[in-house]
Amino acid sequence: MGNQSETHYPLVKEATDAERIGMVKDIFKTIIPRYDFLNHFLSFRRDIAWRRLAVRRMRFLRTNRFLDVACGTGDLGIEAATHYSPISVVGLDFVKEMTDAAARKTQAKGLSSRIVFVNGDATALPFPDNNFDVAGIAFGIRNIPDRMRALREMMRVIVPGGQVMVLEITPPRGAIVKGLYHFYLNRILPRLARAFTSNPSAYIYLADSVMNFPSPEKFKTLMEEAGLTAVKKRALTLGVTYLHIGIKPGL
Ligand SMILES: C[S@@+](CC[C@H](N)C(=O)[O-])C[C@H]1O[C@@H](n2cnc3c(N)ncnc32)[C@H](O)[C@@H]1O
Repeated sequence: MGNQSETHYPLVKEATDAERIGMVKDIFKTIIPRYDFLNHFLSFRRDIAWRRLAVRRMRFLRTNRFLDVACGTGDLGIEAATHYSPISVVGLDFVKEMTDAAARKTQAKGLSSRIVFVNGDATALPFPDNNFDVAGIAFGIRNIPDRMRALREMMRVIVPGGQVMVLEITPPRGAIVKGLYHFYLNRILPRLARAFTSNPSAYIYLADSVMNFPSPEKFKTLMEEAGLTAVKKRALTLGVTYLHIGIKPGL
């Protein structure tokens, strides 16, 4: 028998931007207790390796500050602070329950003196210009309808020569991998999510949002249109995820 109280969200293609933002807030508020576990489990722990690889590409030259946009439970910022001991990190997310969980995790790891969390919107960052060496967003930009605005904001707050990094899941190409991936996202993942979470629709939204994310080529062009230069994209794990890096001009 189905769960009568299960939430249902509209499809990404059919929702207005305002509806999508409301859905995203609702979804991330409700999945926190199992969020880290499911991220690791559903990606076969690849998410940890992907964030680690992004962190290894960061360059801290002037401010020694990293901004983790749409930080969720803080894993990208925690990885950066652990790897680069002199840096300080600001994690930003518009869901307070997420940053509360991130702050608890940071405290447990003894990193509270170097990582702070703020609640705010990725499309209107509450920071002055030229304030960080690197601004990164891991698995967040897919959830932001106005991606161009988010990219421009990340670029604004980093120093000239600084990096904007985007880690995001993309629908892979190639008939076989694509077929397997669609099968996993549409058939396996919702069942697993139903077994493990009180809001399985959140993981159906996840599959839908991945399907509706632009190709790596289109996303690279978007980063260039935002004004970033030397934009590079790197396929990870058969192209399931891409790491995009662009540089703010004007050094
Ligand atoms: C899939 S989670 C990713 C969390 C984390 N970066 C990670 O690597 O696990 C996406 C996060 O983006 C946040 N988010 C989505 N849109 C946002 C926006 N416009 N401003 C701030 N946070 C946003 C959500 O609240 C959620 O915590």
